[in-house]
Amino acid sequence: MIDQVEENFRGMWRELLPVGRYEATGGYRRHAWTTADGECRAWFREQALKRGLTYEVDRNGNQWAWYGDPAAGDAIVTGSHLDSVPDGGAYDGPLGVVSAFAALDALRERGTATGGRPLAIVNFGDEEGARFGVACVGSRLMAGVLEPGHARALRDQDGVLLGDAMERAGHDPFAIGRDDDRLGRIGAYVELHVEQGRNLGDAPVGVASAIWPHGRWRFDFHGEANHAGTTRLEDRRDPMLAYAATVLNAREQARLAGALATFGKISVEPNGTNAIASRVTAWLDSRAADSDTLDMLVKEIIEQSGAEVTRESFTPVVEFDRPLRDRLAARLGGVPVLPTGAGHDAGILASAVPTAMLFVRNPTGVSHSPAEHAEEADCLAGVTALASVLEDLL
Ligand code: GLV
Ligand code: MN
Ligand code: MN
Repeated sequence: MIDQVEENFRGMWRELLPVGRYEATGGYRRHAWTTADGECRAWFREQALKRGLTYEVDRNGNQWAWYGDPAAGDAIVTGSHLDSVPDGGAYDGPLGVVSAFAALDALRERGTATGGRPLAIVNFGDEEGARFGVACVGSRLMAGVLEPGHARALRDQDGVLLGDAMERAGHDPFAIGRDDDRLGRIGAYVELHVEQGRNLGDAPVGVASAIWPHGRWRFDFHGEANHAGTTRLEDRRDPMLAYAATVLNAREQARLAGALATFGKISVEPNGTNAIASRVTAWLDSRAADSDTLDMLVKEIIEQSGAEVTRESFTPVVEFDRPLRDRLAARLGGVPVLPTGAGHDAGILASAVPTAMLFVRNPTGVSHSPAEHAEEADCLAGVTALASVLEDLL
């Protein structure tokens, strides 16, 4: 790769590293429409402007940087997201955005002809859903698979409405909704992402075949608050017991089904050490290779829980566009083609436009953690691969 492109990659990476990092854990807290998210968005805008690209924010708060005429149609789009899970790693999301700018730099250095076809770099808003509970809000709204009124009414843990948070960040929450005009201008979307397991082995780069169906369910276990020191065990209505039994059952049922079930977030009322809880709310994240397995698994967990359950989001199985993924794999010389259990904006867009993904090797497989890592050489191989794929598509 050209030295200058490598330098650009390193420079962008260095600039983003301190943004939204929580010193105590070394993890990132770049949640949608917060100050840290705003700093990431300012960085994106600056990258666009300093390259002379046409910068815009769409109706759903996603940021776009266009090389070529945004109105020309049949655009090749690449990018990812800049927000994070609570105490997330540096790579999940930002690697795709930084690599997109670096790949564009590589194409321009080489003088690649685009034939009038525009190339756009996108930062989809609120991919992780860490603050308001629903993942991929920006891409879901754009693709019309999240109802605008429902989105505006989502609340964070402090009770702040998503609509109000957007407005405070300077974005009109009443402009959100399906964006056919924008979708109609996209010829293909290619998202580069750090791989989130240890599945690439000897290969620095791979291509995605599919995304497992996955969803999030809220479990409310009701009980009665009482004194921890004076209430006899037989007199208690302690929702913590049903919650604990549900976690263990979910784990066992998932093992039996060859699937995944995780309770990673919990909120307790009144949350006092010396008080029996009156309510436990816990969120189940469950995923499986196919829909029938996932349906059966979640049904089983719900039935045995005794909780009041609300499905908060769901993404059906995604099979990426066959010709596009085969074209990418061939262009890259027969790299591994593999499915993933992780959700992505690419999975949402796949319902509307031809979509594909590139994965960059993750040596430990750790993700959604401060310890998430990819070697710089692999990241640079990712940039080379992305540039090659974009050049081919253009
Ligand atoms: C997104 O990272 C998800 O799979 O939860
Ligand atoms: Mn993620
Ligand atoms: Mn991601």
